[in-house]
Amino acid sequence: MENVILKKEGNIGVLTISRPCALNALDFKTLVELDKVLDELEGDESLYVLIITGDGEKSFVAGADISQMKDMNPIQARNFSILGNKVFKKIENLRIPTIAAVNGYALGGGCELALACDIRIACEGAKFGQPEVGLGITPGFGGTQRLTRIVGLAKAKELIFTGEIIDANEALRIGLVNKIVKKEELMEAALKLARKIASNAPIAVMLAKSSINKGYQMDIDTAVMYETEVFSQCFSTEDQKDAMIAFLEKRKVEKFKN
Ligand code: CAA
Repeated sequence: MENVILKKEGNIGVLTISRPCALNALDFKTLVELDKVLDELEGDESLYVLIITGDGEKSFVAGADISQMKDMNPIQARNFSILGNKVFKKIENLRIPTIAAVNGYALGGGCELALACDIRIACEGAKFGQPEVGLGITPGFGGTQRLTRIVGLAKAKELIFTGEIIDANEALRIGLVNKIVKKEELMEAALKLARKIASNAPIAVMLAKSSINKGYQMDIDTAVMYETEVFSQCFSTEDQKDAMIAFLEKRKVEKFKN
């Protein structure tokens, strides 16, 4: 892997997009590398949470690679969008929770990458936007869909139609990010949140993610039925028995197993 770095800190994975020559913009090669690394992560039972960030001080990901897109014909552009959407779907559906640690520009495909994560923490000074219409294109890695689901129809339309770049405070105000922290505290804040999630029963966390994500695509009656299935599955785990016995014995579970 040249443009994607994976490090592990205990049961937390930290995935860094690293293409400093283009502010970490996503080209075909980077997307293919991400695709491969996500397959590895999906099969790695030792990981409970994944943090995604960008290399350097300035940028999370400054979008899809414009120099690569410039000469694309519609078929090539379609394949590029299919690949980007496949990779971002893998992130969204990854069995473990994902946190975007947004360390700078999250524009176009970079904003879409953050949107594909479960939770977004931004540093002061981070910038968000979908500037695609200024380049004669629409968002192509899920922006028209996920931004709408996260900030609502009217705000998503405003941001996408104007291409306006917003700062971290505005992103927080509209619900695009969960939290803002000082730049130098970003990774520690992301790790702290990841550790908190990882301290809970891992199967319960995974099933909760699945229930939220799948239920969000369904009508409420089907969604609550799905929740019932997920809830009942938890009762086949050791963690459920251990945690409830521990509660009744007025102590904490020492370590969740599965
Ligand atoms: N693609 C390719 N290269 C990019 C890039 C991108 N998205 N963003 C930045 N770069 C490159 C620049 O071309 C520049 O390269 P050189 O040093 O070789 O000239 C280098 O990164 C540094 O960038 P700047 O000199 O522009 O840095 P800056 O500080 O002046 O500006 C910026 C920073 C505001 C982020 C500016 O780089 C910018 O506007 N980038 C493009 C943002 C954008 O429009 N993103 C959306 C792309 S379309 C998309 O993502 C489609 C989709 O949904 C799939």
